[in-house]
Amino acid sequence: MLKQEQIDMYRDDGYLVVDKFIDADKIKSLMHRAEHLIEEFDSLSHTTVFSTNEQERTSNEYFIGSADKVRFFFEEGAIDGSGNFRVEKSKSINKIGHAQHIIDPIYKKVVDSLQFEVIARQLGLNKPRAIQSMHIFKQPMIGGEVGLHQDSTFLYTEPMSCVGFWLALEDATIKNGCLQAIPGGHQSPLKKRFLRSKGGEMKFEVLDDSEWQEQELKVLEVVAGTMIILHGQLPHYSAANKSKQSRQAFSVHLVDSKCHYPKENWLQTDLV
Ligand code: FE2
Repeated sequence: MLKQEQIDMYRDDGYLVVDKFIDADKIKSLMHRAEHLIEEFDSLSHTTVFSTNEQERTSNEYFIGSADKVRFFFEEGAIDGSGNFRVEKSKSINKIGHAQHIIDPIYKKVVDSLQFEVIARQLGLNKPRAIQSMHIFKQPMIGGEVGLHQDSTFLYTEPMSCVGFWLALEDATIKNGCLQAIPGGHQSPLKKRFLRSKGGEMKFEVLDDSEWQEQELKVLEVVAGTMIILHGQLPHYSAANKSKQSRQAFSVHLVDSKCHYPKENWLQTDLV
């Protein structure tokens, strides 16, 4: 449970840093599970995901189809132009997503124990539902940049209700690509929506083309075990990881199932 002053900080800043949220045993259990799933994953079946345009379409289908599955996405720098691995398999994955919190027993057990719904209710969601989870790796040397964005772009509801719970499984620093966010930026309008077009392809629709105030980005360095709660409209970013330290994180996104959930959202689920 959050204290009132934490709820106030979240309302003012659009994010909240909660120390010592997930303990070392649970972190270990998520990291070991990921290791095991990656070992079992037949990476050769998807090495082509990031190379040509034809393969981008495959990637698109693979991505959209991951809403109710556990799927593996590579770091762009892990595969060369000919589809060959530059790094060993265990160091090639950018993220695992997007339904392990529902269908994988180990992830489910940890996520259930953390009771994100209780916190989400404190933050104003009436009927919170965890609809997406991601295990993010930010691999050493090749961990990709994640450009400035708002999560409601991808998990849009009417009215907007998305809240992200981002857990540091390892220390996150400026060197290995920690989160950065614009304090108070959640008050600005939603800039884009990620929509299904008629042909089934995903497209961005621009709603507001004003510039981000990038100079206001605040660096959020945190130690393993810390949780950062992110308002769905908060602009946030993480740089590429050029260091030798990975920066593993696990995130869960909730929306209010009392709100309208459009059929055009990429992630379709019977949870909302
Ligand atoms: Fe995000």
